[in-house]
Amino acid sequence: MSPLFVPLLAVLIGQVSPSHYDYDYYQGPSMMLGPPGPNCPEECECPVLFPSAMYCNKRNLKSVPVVPNGIKYLYLQDNNLKEIKASAFVNATDLRWLILDNNQLTNGAVEKGIFEKLGSLEKLHVNFNNLTEPLGPLAKTMNELKITWNKLSKFPSGTLSGLENLTMVDLHGNELTSDGIAGAFKGLKSLVYLDVSKNKLGKLPMGLPSSIEMLYADYNEIGSLDLSYNKLQTIPEVNENLENLYLQVNKISKFDVGSFCKYMTAINFSKLRHLRLDGNNLTRSSVPDEAANCLRLATDVMVEPTD
Ligand SMILES: *[C@@H]1O[C@H](CO)[C@@H](O)[C@H](O)[C@H]1NC(C)=O
Ligand SMILES: *[C@@H]1O[C@H](CO)[C@@H](O)[C@H](O)[C@H]1NC(C)=O
Ligand SMILES: *[C@@H]1O[C@H](CO)[C@@H](O)[C@H](O)[C@H]1NC(C)=O
Ligand SMILES: *[C@@H]1O[C@H](CO)[C@@H](O)[C@H](O)[C@H]1NC(C)=O
Ligand SMILES: *[C@@H]1O[C@H](CO)[C@@H](O)[C@H](O)[C@H]1NC(C)=O
Repeated sequence: MSPLFVPLLAVLIGQVSPSHYDYDYYQGPSMMLGPPGPNCPEECECPVLFPSAMYCNKRNLKSVPVVPNGIKYLYLQDNNLKEIKASAFVNATDLRWLILDNNQLTNGAVEKGIFEKLGSLEKLHVNFNNLTEPLGPLAKTMNELKITWNKLSKFPSGTLSGLENLTMVDLHGNELTSDGIAGAFKGLKSLVYLDVSKNKLGKLPMGLPSSIEMLYADYNEIGSLDLSYNKLQTIPEVNENLENLYLQVNKISKFDVGSFCKYMTAINFSKLRHLRLDGNNLTRSSVPDEAANCLRLATDVMVEPTD
């Protein structure tokens, strides 16, 4: 999927179901008249005009109400949820979106295996909670996982295995270390978007899927700079201590060594290890010979899409 398609898709979906971009702004279904569905828990609202959605957000809930059959979109953000019991989800086989942002969930208080059994689940959002580990095992049907601004320190390899349609993983704002996420994203052949920025990574995980189009890894303990998907025409001058630089998909047509090394001496060279320049107007032959002397530590420099 090209990033160009994302806004279009969101607009299209927005016609028939609530867009996940605006659920935070949803003020309650009072604008949709009519009585709620017969099985709707009294503390929530299931609008008659949109009976597959169940709004339980901002209700000071401490536990998850029983989710009736037929509910596809469940909004539980902005509550006081500290625990989740499997019994609430026994009939939630149609559930596609589960939004749990802004609660107080901890790993010990979420019963194991709940999410794996949700056989239609596509999106799981658990932003702004107190998780220290992801909530695996997860449903194989998922395409989007967001666990931002929690306390994740590790993301065990295998948590996402078999999620062949997973396209987006956003884990920014946690405490992930390089060892803690080693192998976490291996084999995810549909993954296009990965955000691990604002963590404690000392380096980027090895073996990232080649399907990734957008990778965000800045604000870690690596010197990383992500300027991909812009319209840059030249390589910006960067600090010689920078280790990762993402410039893929820009409009750069000249490889200027001076951007990395102002001076080239025995002790003055760039600490850059990963450099992505694919998706620009550059080929291997655009890279001058003197680059080798400047980029001494670079282990991969991607210039062409096939590198
Ligand atoms: C689940 O659905 C079945 C069949 O509709 C019903 O008999 C049962 O009471 C439901 N369970 C819960 C916990 O709502
Ligand atoms: C979750 O974290 C917040 C902020 O760190 C803290 O105030 C709260 O007590 C925590 N809740 C639980 C259930 O651990
Ligand atoms: C992934 O998507 C394809 C196409 O929509 C579907 O046929 C397949 O069952 C999905 N895989 C899983 C594990 O849900
Ligand atoms: C691409 O690079 C070539 C050779 O460096 C240059 O002649 C051409 O004008 C560039 N094209 C664009 C669109 O910048
Ligand atoms: C050369 O490198 C040293 C050590 O990293 C640094 O202190 C110095 O400022 C650099 N000199 C120039 C001219 O960049």
